[in-house]
Order: sequence, then C-alpha cells, then structure tokens
Amino acid sequence: MPNHYFSRLLLLFSCTILFASSVMSQGTTPSGISPANKARIDALMKSMTLDEKIGQLSLFTSDWDVTGPSLNGNYKKLIREGKVGAIFNAYTVDYVRNLQKIAVEESRLKIPLLFGYDVIHGHRTIFPIPLGEACSWNLAAIEHAERIAATEATAEGINWTFAPMVDIARDPRWGRVAEGAGEDTWLGCKIAAARVKGFQGNDYTTNNTLIACVKHFAAYGAAMAGRDYNTVDMSLLSLYEWYLPPYKAAVDAGVGSVMTSFNEIGGVPSTGNKWLLTDLLRNEWHFNGFVVTDYTSINEMLNHGIAGTIKDAARLALNAGVDMDMQGSTYLNSLDSLLKEKNITFSRIDDAVRVILEAKMKLGLFDDPFRYCSRERQEKDIMTPEALASARKMVSESCVLLKNEKNTLPIPASAKKIAVIGPLGDSKKDMLGNWSAAGNWEKCVTLLEGLKAKAGTGVEIFYEKGCNVNDDDRTGFDAALKLATKADFVILALGENGWMSGEASSRAHIDLPGVQNDLAEAVVKTGKPVAAVLFNGRPLAITRLSAAAPAILETWFGGTQAGNGISDVLFGDFNPSGKLTMTFPRTEGQIPVFYNAKNTGRPYQSSDPGAKYVSRYLDCPNDPLYPFGFGLSYTTFTYSGISAVVSGNKVTITAQVKNAGNRDGEEVVQLYVQDKVGSITRPVKELKGFQKVMIKKGESKSIMFNITTDDLAFYHPDLKKSWEPGEFVAYIGTSSAETLSAPFYIK
Ligand code: NOJ
Repeated sequence: MPNHYFSRLLLLFSCTILFASSVMSQGTTPSGISPANKARIDALMKSMTLDEKIGQLSLFTSDWDVTGPSLNGNYKKLIREGKVGAIFNAYTVDYVRNLQKIAVEESRLKIPLLFGYDVIHGHRTIFPIPLGEACSWNLAAIEHAERIAATEATAEGINWTFAPMVDIARDPRWGRVAEGAGEDTWLGCKIAAARVKGFQGNDYTTNNTLIACVKHFAAYGAAMAGRDYNTVDMSLLSLYEWYLPPYKAAVDAGVGSVMTSFNEIGGVPSTGNKWLLTDLLRNEWHFNGFVVTDYTSINEMLNHGIAGTIKDAARLALNAGVDMDMQGSTYLNSLDSLLKEKNITFSRIDDAVRVILEAKMKLGLFDDPFRYCSRERQEKDIMTPEALASARKMVSESCVLLKNEKNTLPIPASAKKIAVIGPLGDSKKDMLGNWSAAGNWEKCVTLLEGLKAKAGTGVEIFYEKGCNVNDDDRTGFDAALKLATKADFVILALGENGWMSGEASSRAHIDLPGVQNDLAEAVVKTGKPVAAVLFNGRPLAITRLSAAAPAILETWFGGTQAGNGISDVLFGDFNPSGKLTMTFPRTEGQIPVFYNAKNTGRPYQSSDPGAKYVSRYLDCPNDPLYPFGFGLSYTTFTYSGISAVVSGNKVTITAQVKNAGNRDGEEVVQLYVQDKVGSITRPVKELKGFQKVMIKKGESKSIMFNITTDDLAFYHPDLKKSWEPGEFVAYIGTSSAETLSAPFYIK
C-alpha cells in the first residue's frame, strides 16, 4: 500500500473516532477526561509524527498584540506545518477564526489551537487592577468579575487566560504587585480560588468559560530588592508557609494550567526546576493540567547561567516538567536532536502532548474548533450594561479611605463649585492600569467625567491639571491655585501613570512622582476643604501627602468605570468599605514591611520609644503609614466584648461590632491569631478569617468565627504541616493594627 494512502486512511480513521465520540464528550468537567475522550486522544497521538508532537508543545504570539520581545517569524506557516499548539495575543472572532481555520483545514492532523491572552482584570470591560479588587474583600464579586471577563474573552475567540497571578508580594517597589492580591497568604488563597472558579466555571463544555493559568510558579513576588525578574532566595520554610499556598489553592480549585516564573529559587530557575514542577506540582499536588513557561524563559536560562546552549536549556525545561514553551522556539528547534541523543525520552514528550490535547478536548475544541468564534456573541456579550454596572460597583468596593479628618468626605451638599486639580483628574489612558487586555481607553470614564455625570443641578465642576505625573514642570501651579481659591471643595487627583506598575515597572522611590507633593501642599494651603484621590498600582510611601491632605481616598486604577465608581464614593452614595491588602510604608527604607512579621528577640515597645538595643530604626518608626487591613468608612465602627471559647478541636471567637456613626455601612471584620510559643517561631499575627457585614446605623452585630486546630497548623522543618498545643491569642478588629484580643489555650 503506498505510504500516502495509508496515512490518509489512518487520518480518516482518527477523524471518525474523534467525531463518533464527540457525543460522549458532553458533560466533562475541568478535573477529568472521560474514557471515551481518552480513547480519542490515544488514537490521535498514535497518528502524530514527532514533529507534530513537538508542535503541540509550542506557543507563539500573533502580531495582534505585543507583550514581550517577538522572536518567532512566520507563525502562520508554522501553524500550517502543524508546528504550533497554541497562539497568544490574538483575539476578535474573525482574526481567531482565520488562524484556527489554518490549523483545522490546512495542517495535516487538523488539531485545533488554543488561544491564550492576558485577561488579568477584565477583557473589554476593564475592572480595577487585581490589587484593588482584592481590597474589596468581596470574594463573590471577584469571582463574578472573572466570570464577566471570561464571558467577554470567550466571545472574542479566547479560551485560555494567563491569570490569576497569585504571587505573594511584600515589596511595593515591585511593579507587579498591581496584578496580585497583596501580602497575605490566607487571603491570597481565597482570592486565587475565587478567580479560578470565575474563569473556569464548573463546566468547560459551556462556551463562555476558559482555562485559567495560575502564575508565576513560584515565588516571583519575592524578587530581591523589588526589582523585576531578580533572583529569589529564601528558606524552604518561608516558601512553603507564605509563597506556595496560593498556587496550591488554585490547583485545588481545578486550575487548568500553570505558568513558570522568570526567577530562580535557591539557584535553579523555576523553568528548569524539576523539584518544583514535577516532584511538588505533579506528584505531591496532583496537578493534572499543563505547564507553560513564561515568555522565553527557557531561553533565559542561558542568562541565568544554568544552561550553556539553547538545546541544553530545552532539555532542562522538558525534563523538569515544562509542557509548553512560550515564544522561545526552543522545543521546536531542539527536542528532535535531544531525543536522538537520548537526553530526553519519548514518554516525557508524550506526557506533555497528552496534557495539552486533554486541555483542548476539555474545552470542546475537537468537537467544534470555532466554538469561541461566534460573531453573535461578540456583538451581544461585550460591555453589557450588567458588566458595566458590576465594574462600577467593583470600583467603589475597591476604594480604600485612608484618611478623613473632620469628615471632609463625602463632598458636602453645600459645595456648589468643585475643583478637580491634578494630572490624573481627566486622564482616560491611565484609568486602565497595566495589563488591560482588549480594554479601550477611549471608553474609560475619568474622574472629571464621573463627577460631572453625577453632580446634581447647580453644582459646577472645574478642572486644572496643575502639573504632570512625573516631571518638575510647575508652570500649571498658578492656574491650579487660582481655581482652588474660587472653589468650595477641591479634589486632588494624584498618583502614578498607568504604565508605572506592572511588568518591568519597578520603582526605587515610591512616593508620588514629580512635583505632585508640592502641588498638593500648595493647594491645601489655600485653606479650602481638600480630598486627595489616588491612582496607583502599588502601595505608595505618601508620608508627605498624608501629613498635608485632610482626606485621602485610594482608588488604584479602576478601569472602564473608574470615574463613575469613584464619584459614587466621593458624593456619598457608596460608603467606602475597602481595606488594604498590602501595607503602605512610610518610606522605602522600611521595606519589606508587612503585618505578619516575627517578633524578634528584641522587639520594639511603643511604651519605650527611645530604647536603644531593640529592633528599630533611629530615624523612622517601625510601624507603617497604613497597615494591612486598614480602611475607614464614612461611619464609625466600635468593637467590644471579644471572647474565645475552646471546645475540643474547635475555637469560637466572638465580638460585638457596633455602627456608632450616622450612616449605614459595611465593615470587613478581621480575625487574626497568634501562636504564642511554637517549636519554630510564629508571626505576631496571622489572618485566619474575615466577614464583610452590612451594619445599619446605631445597630450592633455579634460576629462569630469558628476555627479548628487545622487552621492553627504551620509548616515544620520537615515541611509537614501540623498544629501545636499551647497558648494562642485571638484578635478581632478593623485592621491588623487595631484589634481586641482574647487568649485561648488548646491542650
Ligand atoms: C510575561 C509575563 O510575565 C506574563 O505574566 C505574561 O502572561 C506573559 N508575558 C504573556 O504576555
């Protein structure tokens, strides 16, 4: 039988199996693959050449969007040749359809492509940056935001997002803190799981869910000195206790893929780290999806100095457990000869191919490669009124009121002339923040627009820029001050440009850039009521502003609905309830400063501030400017009557929270625990629970937390987790720094 005839027959046979069992594929879930679908994949793999298998392990960027250096040349030709498994940075139905058509009509085996994209905080409807969303402490709303993002992204051809980013970060100089949930591991785990659920739903067979990709595995957030891509070096205990759990939480929530990080840990880059990717992720955590590198991170192992050639780097990566090479072409160019030289095995390639085909199968791409390419959905599922309303609410929920002397905010009804002053008052582009996917900055509502849209009749809103974000030009000061003197109320719109946080955006100085502090101080000197509204992607060291401005509202970068959601807060229609999930330092010299630190052998005591031989600075207090968990409301909550009752392995901790102010409000009631004496030292406080509760003015609520001894467990030097009997302290409060306490003992 001629060869080509035989291969056509085989192809026909595999296609028949693929088609015949498509009916049986209904009802698959993110966690598993049915026996029928496994048989389809087995048959397909039998028909694949080595080159086609290696092709499945290769991911390339299209030229639709750019998120890093482009190396690849003609990706369409490669798709045609069956040398591409997935494409990223491609969206819109027609664009994706065209590429998918090449794969399923022109390549020999017609294997559909995955389409990935950085859908980080919304796709078209852009929500606040993830750090901002985390400050809402509203897990349901965060999950819902990702549901909307998935709905929009899948309506434009995308079936895989490079999110959630769950890197714990204690250094605000690192620009990528904007993409994560902040400094706390416990909260980070909850948010990681919520985001995965939001993206993936419970069922991949619907066409509005996509595969999530937890990143950057692992510990990318601990880059030394907060400089992006820098080395990570830490004890295994810290890695287990603080950095790994959120990735694990995403795996436990069924995340379909994992992205390796750029950094090394303990001398081995993550991308070549077998212990991390195979022993821990696959064997201990039972991760059953696929592992993708970050952008050219196999190639970068040459710079790290752990591989002398690209081929060697590819060997390290594949053997470590990397299934897919993002943008590096290293697998494409090296696996063939590595196999011949017996430096890698067929079975390792097959394992990698299988998990990628399984992902495509779970998404239903073998049944309908164009299921994410519906023009009708693209028309109707994008930026719906519901999506915009959710985004607006999320903006308000993400806002954190940092200061509000003499109830400066909300803007009083008596203010008829409102001046907006500052470089971020009317800047559409900056509202999106970084990683704004397919968000269109022209559709963003600025603060000025939001205020104008909301202001009642008879209220006039004026704007002066005053200065730029990041230079020393003061020529706009005069006009700004003139406007301030005419106004009844001044809103200062200050902060960073949207591009000053995110990837490759570390800053050594994290105060307000440029001459913004000078502008703010000059405006405050006019004696007018002033509220500063901050736009930024990281905690800032705003000690000067904090001393000057009577009120400060942190709003992050709010996305499409920024101006509307912030105006809801400023005018008092939404009572702010956000709480910081990352500490604001007084100065860069305190970094890293985070709430769950250790006590040290010579702790500083506020009762003896001048003490010499204690752990403190000579020139700066130890405590931060604004601590983790902090955030004010337009009302006041008072806490009383904490108790901690132990019964067997359960502890019930209760406190009364009263809304003592004169408007209804939501409060994030926080539970912390301290393990007083352990076989290894424990932090001064660890978050163990929270409840976000609405309390009407004048009302009291009894807030009860139930924890068990499992919640008190921590990692020991053998890297096993267990709790130890003894004395504990429970804390309930409005922030990590303002709590009531009650001791408890467990035998
Ligand atoms: C590099 C970033 O580190 C990663 O987070 C992102 O997903 C990829 N580029 C793709 O854009």
